[in-house]
Amino acid sequence: MLRNQEYETLHLADYKIYDYGQDFLDDQFKEVIQKVFAVDTLAIGSPVYWHSINGLVRNFLDRQYGVVTDQLVGKKLYFIFQGSAPTQEVLEMGDYTMCRYAGLYGMDYLGMVNN
Ligand SMILES: Cc1cc2nc3c(=O)[nH]c(=O)nc-3n(C[C@H](O)[C@H](O)[C@H](O)COP(=O)(O)O)c2cc1C
Repeated sequence: MLRNQEYETLHLADYKIYDYGQDFLDDQFKEVIQKVFAVDTLAIGSPVYWHSINGLVRNFLDRQYGVVTDQLVGKKLYFIFQGSAPTQEVLEMGDYTMCRYAGLYGMDYLGMVNN
């Protein structure tokens, strides 16, 4: 996926991205989403926490609601989902969420990889 590609890794844990509905001056959501708007291909990675996508990634998707209009149209999306012992249902739900996320914003979902 990344072979021979120039890429930048962003760790959501390094940024203050508050919950949807919160409004704090030091929020860094815009900084991160602007970087996403600038690329052709996005690979989102999440650990499995509590049988789901982790809070940081889910929150990042929540925050795009109402902000993203057509900025992601045509971008390619991959999803990397890792758990210590994820069940098939969990993997399918993560894949489904990302497929719907891509569909909502006009991205081309190229699928999930998992351990
Ligand atoms: C709060 C928390 C909840 C977790 N819940 C699950 C879970 O429901 N299913 C699962 O397969 N792994 C679960 N894990 C394991 C993580 O997915 C795993 O630690 C993560 O993918 C990183 O892998 P590593 O510990 O080998 O680096 C959980 C870990 C944490 C910290």
